[in-house]
Amino acid sequence: MQARADVKPVLKWAGGKRQLLEPILAFVERIFPTQIEKYYEPFAGGGAVFFALVARGKFKRARLSDKNEDLIRVYTALRDDAHSVIHELEKLCQAKLSEDTYYKVRASRPTKAPARAARMLYLNRTGYNGLYRVNRSGEFNVPYGRYKKPNILDPARLLATAGALQGVELAVEDFEQCCARAKRGDFVYFDPPYVPVSKTSSFAAYHSVAFTLTEHERLAKTFAKLSKRGVAALLSNSDTPETRRLFAAFDTHTVHAKRAINSNGARRGKVSELLVRAHVSALARQAK
Ligand SMILES: C[S@@+](CC[C@H](N)C(=O)[O-])C[C@H]1O[C@@H](n2cnc3c(N)ncnc32)[C@H](O)[C@@H]1O
Repeated sequence: MQARADVKPVLKWAGGKRQLLEPILAFVERIFPTQIEKYYEPFAGGGAVFFALVARGKFKRARLSDKNEDLIRVYTALRDDAHSVIHELEKLCQAKLSEDTYYKVRASRPTKAPARAARMLYLNRTGYNGLYRVNRSGEFNVPYGRYKKPNILDPARLLATAGALQGVELAVEDFEQCCARAKRGDFVYFDPPYVPVSKTSSFAAYHSVAFTLTEHERLAKTFAKLSKRGVAALLSNSDTPETRRLFAAFDTHTVHAKRAINSNGARRGKVSELLVRAHVSALARQAK
């Protein structure tokens, strides 16, 4: 993968990692002064870390995956046929943006990959807070966002994204499956739906299935297994007693992040987050 300074996330996504980028990139630089053999991002979302690593030419190969099928379809369509996606988006942008046009696009059900991706990109830019939410039948149900001038069609950005995705493996899959083959020399970054910070905030549901405490326990086991195999891994999560308990065996670092949107759109302001690190030197320390 060649460095491409022009790439940025193409989708707005709850839990975007832009503010944690600095400590995450510092960790990567320390562990991988040259290149990561294969980069894995099992909770891809907006892919802020992936795109930042692409911009720096930091890995040779990559696998991006997420349980959210609509999301992975957007990346796949851009990787495989960005010009058709841009063409479909141009068609959607011919009608002046209004509440009425938003709901018409939301109600449409295109079947071809470029048109499906264009619909999602359009709804992501014009829907409320860039949220992704579906009803019980799996239909996207985010209300109109009322933005004055949303940047819906940005061909240069879409083409840069397409360039960044060339040769990248994309899959709709569970996190455990994504990194099952990771080896020493590879790097896995986990950005799961966060453990709720209070009893009143619920466990996040970015797709139809919620990410429960049982899922977080399974994730902690996966993290420990990778670390035993000598795979460098990093995980971000909310700083809660639960997270600290689950990752007590690992090296943790606290970061203060400003959150604009999250899973329920209600909590804003500065929050404390944890970066959990597993890498070769930490493994050596644990062995002592
Ligand atoms: C916090 S977001 C990721 C944010 C992303 N790193 C960014 O920069 O925008 C969590 C993602 O995990 C996905 N997800 C939830 N459960 C999952 C599972 N069991 N396996 C894989 N992905 C899952 C959601 O669809 C969501 O996109």
